[in-house]
Amino acid sequence: MKEIILDNVEATRNWAKDFAKNLKAPITVALHGDLGMGKSEIARTIIQTLSGDDTVVPSPTFTLVQTYENKDGKISHFDLYRINDKSELIEIGLPYAVDNDITLIEWPDIADDILPENTINIFLESYKDGRKLTVK
Ligand SMILES: Nc1ncnc2c1ncn2[C@@H]1O[C@H](COP(=O)(O)OP(=O)(O)O)[C@@H](O)[C@H]1O
Ligand SMILES: [Mg+2]
Repeated sequence: MKEIILDNVEATRNWAKDFAKNLKAPITVALHGDLGMGKSEIARTIIQTLSGDDTVVPSPTFTLVQTYENKDGKISHFDLYRINDKSELIEIGLPYAVDNDITLIEWPDIADDILPENTINIFLESYKDGRKLTVK
């Protein structure tokens, strides 16, 4: 377990850039935390670090998943907020993604039982004017 204090959004982005450089597919990153804690900010920075700074990263809130190419394969960015039933996870291709891609998941709780054992769990919470990030 590792705890990091991120004083501002720049600190969040810098942390995510460094973190991105160590990711090799297949790997799953579960981003936990309430609305506005920085899950999308971290996902966007990881995607832009690996797929190019000018990559447009729309929120997958409505599409549920967005995919990107990078030099070693694919990045799949999921937002499971609107998923009500676990069977939908199969329909949107989550099991396939976790087996093959760099898979980034916002609101990952509903997928808990199907995520790989080596999933990197990131927890974000408010801390003073910034955020506390815990990696498990
Ligand atoms: N370390 C930080 N300190 C203060 N504000 C931050 C920090 N990291 C991110 N933010 C801000 O918090 C918000 C996070 O939004 P977003 O990434 O969409 O959250 P989520 O996807 O978790 O709902 C953004 O407005 C961003 O600027
Ligand atoms: Mg978000």
